[in-house]
Parts: sequence; structure tokens; C-alpha cells
Amino acid sequence: MEKFVISGGKALKGTVRISGAKNAAVAILPAVLLADEPCTVENLPNISDVSTILKAMRELGAEVKLVNKTTVWIDPRGVDSYIVTKQMAEGMRASSYFMGALLGRMNRARVAPPGGCDFGVRPIDQHIKGFEALGAKVTIENGMVDAKAMELRGASIYLDVVSVGATINIMLAATKVKGLTVIENAAREPHIVDLANFLNSMGADIMGAGTGMIKIRGVEHLRGTDYSIIPDQIEAGTYMVAAAATMGDVVIDNVTPKHLESIAAKLKEMGATVEEGEESVRVCMSERPKRCNVKTMPHPGFPTDMQPQIATILAIADGTSIVTEGVWDSRFRYVEQLTLMGADIQVDGKMAVVTGVKELRSAPVKAVDLRAGAAMIIAGLMAEGITEIEEIDHIDRGYEEVVEKFSALGADIKRVYYPDNTTVLKQA
Ligand code: EPZ
Repeated sequence: MEKFVISGGKALKGTVRISGAKNAAVAILPAVLLADEPCTVENLPNISDVSTILKAMRELGAEVKLVNKTTVWIDPRGVDSYIVTKQMAEGMRASSYFMGALLGRMNRARVAPPGGCDFGVRPIDQHIKGFEALGAKVTIENGMVDAKAMELRGASIYLDVVSVGATINIMLAATKVKGLTVIENAAREPHIVDLANFLNSMGADIMGAGTGMIKIRGVEHLRGTDYSIIPDQIEAGTYMVAAAATMGDVVIDNVTPKHLESIAAKLKEMGATVEEGEESVRVCMSERPKRCNVKTMPHPGFPTDMQPQIATILAIADGTSIVTEGVWDSRFRYVEQLTLMGADIQVDGKMAVVTGVKELRSAPVKAVDLRAGAAMIIAGLMAEGITEIEEIDHIDRGYEEVVEKFSALGADIKRVYYPDNTTVLKQA
């Protein structure tokens, strides 16, 4: 097993290059299954969520060749299976995108429900509502979601909650069906726009992505394409917060500054200087952060995937801040870990009251999920002394070369192997 060992207290300085967006990659790769020709996808992040999806695509019958570390060539023509087993789906939240992609390709999908981060119940009722509106019959049997149709047809679908996953899944299922599909109350995240741009580059007819109403006019064929994925908004935001939290001065490069506005606004409120370049942002901080309130919302609001990281910097702010979670029912599991490091945070339902302390102290902690893990890294970088973070496989799911990138900014962070005691106990 592996853990991160961080010797904190050093200001981050230098330039970090942001990788391709995880949440765009996990939608665009299954979307390749809709193509009638091979596709090349560039700027892929080198993370375990991507390798899990590529492995599943091979098992479905696609030919997958890595061109280099960030580029993959995929020929979907050999795909002859519509089944994504529990084993194939394990550990990836985005397995649900195989439902929309396989349904769109073969009018049939049998997919194990998603794994990924545990924020309590993660329903898929809106995905199912969308598939049914398009004409599929959806059942859940033996823990597998089964969707089938003789023929799908365009439909109008109003989402009861703004759901990224349901919006993407309906786009995937509807791209090649007859007629017009309209998604109302659609999610507007940058990765939804990226997926639409990818599908349109193959000949799809999708309009309105990035607004609350997406119109998809079905097309018969999708040709191959060569497409480069957008930079990762959340990876960039994580380095922005880490720069400010360590009183550092960091240029975050290869980003889309527009996607980072809500994060920049909060850091400025805390007293950081944030300078936007054309494809970069520079974040510097020279004083103890000021308190501020944060509420997470669907895009263009403050992203829920930045909530643990922003609460971590607020843990050392001068004053008391309120952090309200507006997307997930339960996303404060990391708070227990932060309190081990001396943070003073009281959680009441979807709200956390963060009373700033002067400094965090190092402690052994766990990455309870992906972004919680990112928050633990930031906390470890802030705290004097040695912080050990276990269960880092969560972090590897979504952050490319996290040790290398932070080390290049002057952080003292190492990946350390240690024996798995639970295995020893099981064998004993
Ligand atoms: C995506 O998850 C992201 N994952 C999550 O990022 C992110 O936190 C989330 O969107 C919100 O931005 C990927 O893109 C792979 P949702 P998703 O459907 O699609 C409710 C990360 O850290 N809901 O937008 O699963 C749901 O309970 C990950 O990178 C329903 O009620 O999220 C939640 O409260 C973690 N019924 C809200 O909608 C449904 O059918 C938003 O969920 C679907 C969702």
C-alpha cells in the first residue's frame, strides 16, 4: 500500500502545468463508442479513472492504442458487447456513461452501477427518466442497470435536479437517435460543453451546451475525429488554493481562466492576489487569509469539487466562515480528518461553521474521497511537521503526477510504500 508523507510549512513557488480534465475525459472516452470510425483523443490526464475506462473499452471490444502519455487512439468498430460488469465498473463513478453510450450505439446497455466517491446516496433516477423518455425500457436486476429499446426517438426531458451525469448520459443516448431531443434544466459545467464540442467535431448536431437548454438533433453517422480535452478546472483550483494556503506565489498554467472565476473570486475575498493571463492564473498570498462564506452550486456557481479544499484554507483564516454544500447531501466526511490536524469545524447538515485557528498541526490522516484527499494534501503542506496521508488511491483517481507537480513547486512530499496490515491480519 502507499501513502503520502508531507513535511509542511513551505511556501509553494513556481509554475505548474494543469492536465486535461478528468470529468471531461470520463465522458468523452465512452462517447467514442458512438463513432463509426477511429478517434484520437489528446490531452488525456494520466490518472487511474482514465485507465479504468480504457480497460473497460478494450473489454467491450474496442481497439485502444496509447500514442503517447496523453494521447490515445481508439477504434470502436469491433465493440460487440453491451455489458459493463461490476468488476469493470469498480472504482469509477463514470461507469454510468457507458449506459448512454452503449444505448446510443446498440439500443442496449447492461451496466453495473457506478463506484467512485462516496457522498452517501448517489441516485441515477434522472438518467433513467431520460432514457425512458427516449423510449428505452429500464430495469434494475441483480445489481445491474439494464436499458433496452427497439428504437430510440428524440424527446423533451426536463431534469428535476441539475445533474451533470444525467445531462451527459442523455446527450450520449440521444446523439444518434431520430428526431430532436431537448434537455431542459441541463447542467452547464465546462465538461458538458467539451463533450458537445467533441460530438459535434464528429458530425453531431448539438446546440446550447453551456446553457440550461440543450438541443440535440439526431444524426445517423458520426465520423472519426482528433480532439483535445479542456484543462482540468478542479486540478487548477486545487493548486490555486494550495498556493494561497502556503503563502506562496504560483503560476497555474494551461488553464481556461474563465472556468476559474468563482474560485479566484473567493481567494481574492480572502486577500490573495489573482492575476489572469491568457491561459494561466497567478496566485500569491502574503498574509493570513480573511474569513469568507462559500456556497457550492452547479456551474457557474462555486464548484462542489472545490469545497473540501476551500474549507481547508478557511480553517486557518482570521475569523469564522460558513461553508454551505449546495449540491451533495453529504460531503463533509473529510472534516473529521481536518479536526485531527487542529481545525475547528462544526458540521450541521449541509453547513459547516469553520472557526479559523492560527495554524494546523501535522497528524496521520486519510483521504476519504478524491477531493477530500486533495484537501489533506493542502492541509499537510500548511502544517509544520510531518503529515502522513493514507488511502491515496482516491487521489490517484483524479490527480496526475501529484507528487511530481507539488515537488516542482518546492513542496516536500513523497509517495511511500508500506505493508498492508489488514492482509497480514487476514492471513494470520
Ligand atoms: C459529477 O458527478 C462529477 N463527476 C462530480 O465530481 C461532481 O461532484 C458532480 O458532477 C457535481 O458537479 C463526474 O463528472 C464524473 P450530479 P455526478 O448528477 O454526475 C443529484 C469529482 O470529485 N442527482 O451532477 O454524479 C445528486 O444526488 C466528482 O471529480 C439526483 O438526485 O453528479 C446530487 O445531489 C465527485 N438524481 C446532484 O443531483 C440523479 O439521477 C448533482 O449530481 C442524478 C443526480
